Amino acid sequence: MTTHTDEIRKQALQYQWMHNADWTQMAETGEPLVMVKGEGVRVTDSTGKTWLDVHGGYTCVNLGYGRTEIAEVAYDQISKITYFPQGTTTVPVIQLCEKLAELLPGDINRSWPGSGGSEANETAIKMVRAYHKRRGESGRYKVISRKGSYHGTTGGVMWLGNNATDYSLSDFEPAAPGMVHVPHPNHYRDEYNSATPSETAIRCAQAIEDAILMHDAKTVAAVIGEPVSQPIGAPVPAPEYWPMVREICDKYGVLLIVDEVITGFGRTGKMFGIEHFGIEPDIMTMGKGIISSYLPLAVTSVSDRVAEQFGSEPIWHAVTSAGNPVSAAAALKTIEIIESENMVENSRMQGEYLKKGLTDLMKTHSIIGDVRGIGLLIGVEMVADRDTKEKFSKDVDVAGRINKEFRKNGLILQSDGNVITVGPPLCVTQSDCDEIIDGIDASLEAIEQQLGVK
Ligand SMILES: Cc1ncc(COP(=O)(O)O)c(C=O)c1O
Repeated sequence: MTTHTDEIRKQALQYQWMHNADWTQMAETGEPLVMVKGEGVRVTDSTGKTWLDVHGGYTCVNLGYGRTEIAEVAYDQISKITYFPQGTTTVPVIQLCEKLAELLPGDINRSWPGSGGSEANETAIKMVRAYHKRRGESGRYKVISRKGSYHGTTGGVMWLGNNATDYSLSDFEPAAPGMVHVPHPNHYRDEYNSATPSETAIRCAQAIEDAILMHDAKTVAAVIGEPVSQPIGAPVPAPEYWPMVREICDKYGVLLIVDEVITGFGRTGKMFGIEHFGIEPDIMTMGKGIISSYLPLAVTSVSDRVAEQFGSEPIWHAVTSAGNPVSAAAALKTIEIIESENMVENSRMQGEYLKKGLTDLMKTHSIIGDVRGIGLLIGVEMVADRDTKEKFSKDVDVAGRINKEFRKNGLILQSDGNVITVGPPLCVTQSDCDEIIDGIDASLEAIEQQLGVK
């Protein structure tokens, strides 16, 4: 068994280019792990060791691993028809678009199925620019996003948000034009040092209006944001934020794109993250949880007002893998399971339990500065000094240290910087949550000993 594993790892190091991975270092540390099986929240590697996947893949395997119902519908659809001849469509794709119209807020009734979250946001950006052009406002091309957000990795959307921490975006310059960045409503790291979360929310929403005015409203096409943003540790904006943003967008004729790629399909304890804030976007993008990443699928859905501009004049936009009927059938089954097994409610309940357990760790671990989040989208921010919120300097390599400890404690969990983001599959149980809390507790204990803060 071990011999086989060594061999397959060697092949991975020689031939595969993994996401954000350094293969020289992986060779030294005996990585990568090669996963061969998964069930629920657990995955088994090629040596037979089982791990708890605290991050549910990339916070995407909402159903958990090993749901054979998905394999069955995919098999069935592949046996019937796997693709669509030009200018035609298929039953599962139509049914998925209809199901989304039923689930999505307001009059978001028309969906463009794609194959990944980055592509869904690229699609949204093309749509908003084309929307304004069709209405006689071709000067509107700028897109306002919040610093710290993440909307994808492809040529255009990589310039939205501003999440490069360890990885430098300068590798890919020049940046796409028209990307405008504003402060994030993260009270813990508020650029304005506001006294309350409400004040943070109001100032950050106001910053959007200021940016629209500074850039001239006639050049601004859209504002994009995740209801709750994971990369910076899931700060939940105070209730004032999203209604203000909606109002500002309406005031200046700017469209609002809400990116639900991570928050959609139960992750935050509601079907969609934006439901916590009571507003209706013009466009919503979804991915990950819609199909629990069993197959590639993402969707860009638009309101009737946006769709109206395209009915008799379609935009130039096609992707070969978009609208795949096998993915659509698997997504319909995924949504059916999420609904029938009350996974959204489980996300809310277990999320509360997990967040409380992680918050309690602050009593014994001074390096936790803040615990935040909603549902099963939780962030734990580590700090060198809780009073001043000073971050650890890069040479301490707090992420590298804690990641090693997570592995020792049987957790698949990886911190990219000062924040640990926790997002297990929505089928997680209370005893799984206890295991996650205990594993993080033990990992923090070990690095506090190493850093001499205990
Ligand atoms: C909020 C958000 N938007 C977009 C994306 C990009 O999705 P994908 O990785 O499927 O391209 C991600 C991925 O993590 C995400 O979290």
